[in-house]
Amino acid sequence: MSVVVLRTAEEVRKTVEEWRCSRRIIGFVPTMGALHPGHLSLVSKAFEHADTVIVSIFVNPAQFGPDEDFESYPRTLRDDIDKLEKVGANAVFYPEKDIIYPEGFSTSVHVSNLTDTLCGKYRPGHFDGVSTVCAILFGIVKPDIAVFGRKDAQQLAVIKRMVLDLRFDIRIVGADIYRERDGLAMSSRNRYLRPVERTQAAALFRGLSRAAELAGKGERDTGRLCEVARQIIAKSPLAVVQYLEIVDQDTMKPVERLDGPGLLAVAVRFGKTRLIDNIVLDPGASYKED
Ligand code: PAJ
Repeated sequence: MSVVVLRTAEEVRKTVEEWRCSRRIIGFVPTMGALHPGHLSLVSKAFEHADTVIVSIFVNPAQFGPDEDFESYPRTLRDDIDKLEKVGANAVFYPEKDIIYPEGFSTSVHVSNLTDTLCGKYRPGHFDGVSTVCAILFGIVKPDIAVFGRKDAQQLAVIKRMVLDLRFDIRIVGADIYRERDGLAMSSRNRYLRPVERTQAAALFRGLSRAAELAGKGERDTGRLCEVARQIIAKSPLAVVQYLEIVDQDTMKPVERLDGPGLLAVAVRFGKTRLIDNIVLDPGASYKED
């Protein structure tokens, strides 16, 4: 069966209601399009928990800063639909801006505390834009489950908190980071990288992996672990680190000593392109006494 393209909230409601009548479990994958295998892996993940999957494609102006890439963000709808067709998605919600933000729209959802650190510090208002649009989309789609990538670990934590606080009856499922062969996390923004930047960008994962390896061997000093990752990334001269920190996975607060799993998160600029990545450090993972 081919993927249905829905343009209005009414069309989504009607379609989802029909699915519900046939007792189907509804999975939802929100995206901004320019789909790559990372996004498609979220659709597959959704099918592990649901039998019908709807994907939204909406480049959400509210989550872009004034100097960010809203205008130039890649828009590749035809291609996206073909890809979704291949992975068996049932529907795509592709709304115009005024379907999401009609005249008179006045609400903003702000999740505090865990938006103060990492990307929240460098992209003011970004997470308000994300949580607001996700609340709107959840209200329209009313899925049973929704899948978010661990690549955007802070976003995943924010959405989980919002769903808990606002009592949305939706299970939020995290999906692993999907990477290129050299370890670079897939991103719609990777296409902005010049060839030399693209080659050097692999250093992010090399740095993160080395820190994870040391943590697995028992290193618990987060300062030292960060330093190791930072030095490896610094071998790529075009990489400008914006932040590199180890935080608690749920609260996003910095951790000084690894007494349990911690999240090493990094944001790096290559020219105008900003890349983020992360890895879970688990001191118990492979620690053996020599
Ligand atoms: P977007 O950047 O299009 O990402 C959509 C989803 O795909 C997010 O949950 C993101 O974490 C996930 N994703 C992206 N690259 C991934 C990769 N390499 N591996 C695994 N998952 C990956 O994130 C957004 O859009 C927006 O903020 C959105 C949630 C749609 C709200 O506008």
